[in-house]
Amino acid sequence: MVKLGKRLQALDAMVVAGYDQIWDGCCDHGLLGAALLSRRAAPLIHFVDLVPALMQQLAHQLQRHFPLSAAAADEGVQPRWQVHCCDLTSLRLDAAGGRQLVIIAGVGGDLMARMVEGLCLTNPNLSFDLLLCPANHAYNLRAQLIALGLGLKHEQLVADNRRYYELLLLTTEPGAGRAVSPAGDQLWQTSNPEQAVNAARYREQSLRHYQRMQLSQGERVQPQIEAYQRVQLPSEM
Ligand SMILES: C[S@@+](CC[C@H](N)C(=O)[O-])C[C@H]1O[C@@H](n2cnc3c(N)ncnc32)[C@H](O)[C@@H]1O
Repeated sequence: MVKLGKRLQALDAMVVAGYDQIWDGCCDHGLLGAALLSRRAAPLIHFVDLVPALMQQLAHQLQRHFPLSAAAADEGVQPRWQVHCCDLTSLRLDAAGGRQLVIIAGVGGDLMARMVEGLCLTNPNLSFDLLLCPANHAYNLRAQLIALGLGLKHEQLVADNRRYYELLLLTTEPGAGRAVSPAGDQLWQTSNPEQAVNAARYREQSLRHYQRMQLSQGERVQPQIEAYQRVQLPSEM
């Protein structure tokens, strides 16, 4: 079993017990899904990605490490994993599938915003949870989450290999969870000096990113700049 990096470890830790099905969307080599499968995080783990060659190779690896017996399928025993080669945006979740979690990690924030919107449109009357970790700036993604009215269950900042990642656990269940904040809320709460340094650096980095963008895009990115300027770290309160 390949050891997960800090970002994937943090995502793994945010997957609590109680889900009936977990979808590792954009799974690539399926590292996170395999870790969830190995610790039996849910009775059924789905692996989803667009690339056929990757998915064939992954199905082969999963069959080696977590074999599904043909006899079990004949006896109607539910498989522990399934591989799907498709576009996550148009993925139909299992309408009778109990509590479901869709994980999307490692794609850019703008693409992720389109994926979340697509998933919600494809599964309009279904409540499910989402665990998101964009590969870069999350402001536009957050704007989309707010527009869709998703509820926030938990958010945290993770530093991995000198890069910062926002991890957001959300629900589509109407009225559940807290409102998503444009630049993060709980994200900036820290409980030790290392987290405080990371939060300060991430705020600085985000602010500089949008200030650089302002040189070419002008007033369009003023709301982003003001949102990060308003962020207060615990040491400044
Ligand atoms: C960098 S990998 C992320 C791997 C893993 N989730 C992680 O966070 O380390 C991004 C993956 O997203 C997949 N992908 C991109 N767009 C997709 C879509 N619309 N539907 C499903 N998978 C997609 C790519 O094929 C690629 O394997």
